[in-house]
Amino acid sequence: MNTTTKNTPIDFQMVTRKIKDSKLESPGRASIREIKKLIDDIEKATGEKFVRMEMGVPGLPPTRIGIEAEIEALKTGIAAIYPDIYGIPQLKTETSRFVKLFMDIDVSPEGCIPTCGSMMGSLAAFMTINRCNSEKDTTLLIDPGFPVHRQQLKVLNQKMVSFDVYNYRGNKLKDKLESILSKGNISCLLYSNPNNPSWICFTETELKIIGDLCNKYDVIAIEDLAYFAMDFRRDLSKPGEPPYQPTVAKYTNNYILTISSSKVFSYAGQRIGMLVISDEIFNRSYPELKKYYARDLFGHSIIFGTIYALSAGITHSTQYALAAIFKAANDGKLNFVEEVKEYGEKAHIMKNLFVNNGFKIVYDKDEDEPIADGFYFTFSYPGFTGEELLNKLLYYGISAISLAITGSERLEGIRACVSLVKREQFKDLEYRLKKFHEDHKN
Ligand SMILES: Cc1ncc(COP(=O)(O)O)c(C=O)c1O
Repeated sequence: MNTTTKNTPIDFQMVTRKIKDSKLESPGRASIREIKKLIDDIEKATGEKFVRMEMGVPGLPPTRIGIEAEIEALKTGIAAIYPDIYGIPQLKTETSRFVKLFMDIDVSPEGCIPTCGSMMGSLAAFMTINRCNSEKDTTLLIDPGFPVHRQQLKVLNQKMVSFDVYNYRGNKLKDKLESILSKGNISCLLYSNPNNPSWICFTETELKIIGDLCNKYDVIAIEDLAYFAMDFRRDLSKPGEPPYQPTVAKYTNNYILTISSSKVFSYAGQRIGMLVISDEIFNRSYPELKKYYARDLFGHSIIFGTIYALSAGITHSTQYALAAIFKAANDGKLNFVEEVKEYGEKAHIMKNLFVNNGFKIVYDKDEDEPIADGFYFTFSYPGFTGEELLNKLLYYGISAISLAITGSERLEGIRACVSLVKREQFKDLEYRLKKFHEDHKN
């Protein structure tokens, strides 16, 4: 903090005291939940509302069709009955239709399996994939990424390597990926697309590179589609009509998709997502699986071994909800993309407010094209690391998270999530950014 400018939008003394009380060495290095707690405390103590951009939670009401289907299902008594581990038939069929109609790919219903949020999907995938072949024991995370994936690999005590894709966009990705995959120890790689935290989206060139190299080195791509169809630069909302949600599945059969209902259907609270396994991987035999599972088949092992061990099936009623949501989308009765476009519109306005006040967008391009406006964006301010900037922004009533916890090498960067910021707060945001700029520009 400039010693000359203690006249900050949020009471300087109070913020300083609350930071001290929090016992966090540096809020700029804290986890998302720690930051959330600190801001809750400062808001309570000062009575001031922050522009809260730290947590990636939906800011919209849940998709109605899901709630109604869930209530109906509960009334029939399904709460008393264990669901099949592999999922209810209509959810499996509608998911298979969904990926056909919105991605133009063919996956049999048997490979479409419900999980407790897509987080459980990636966990189950890591657990199973890294038992297929003892020579391939390492997961590659294409960063920046969602910190929980890293955490999953850590708690599983599995090996991981990662790199920040910032300097390897377009054709440059090929040599970089090849240098890692050619070592032969990589079992799978994971990325999110659109990406949390940077909102970059891989281009077809990049997806083809990933797919081709997965074929060449027998690596499974885990494509995290938590923000399905939320690249609003293209209209991906029409079932059965191009353009489709871009996917590595166009270029390789070595893929597993994780599809979340949390953001795109605002259904985070019900914790349901889908694991979609390509037919080829589902039916593939890996003899080493027999060390852990009854069979050597991947699909059988992940369902009756891993998912059984993890949760023995997914909440019955939520499966009815997601089946109904997918069916409505597949039948053209629910334009789910339209419902979440608000995020992109808010991001557009907020990014301008930042840029007009001396901030820079860190991850700003997909090859030559400016990135989409969506759920997240990344920013920096000249002369500060992300950690320093976050610490300072607290005095201006703005909260976010540092890119340092996402595997990003852009240590100047901060991730902002637009979902919880209300349009009525834009005036406050503008005032606070302006004041910050006045206080810190050279
Ligand atoms: C990239 C990414 N993957 C997965 C998830 C979690 O999804 P779910 O709520 O379906 O577990 C998130 C949530 O923020 C995310 O950003």
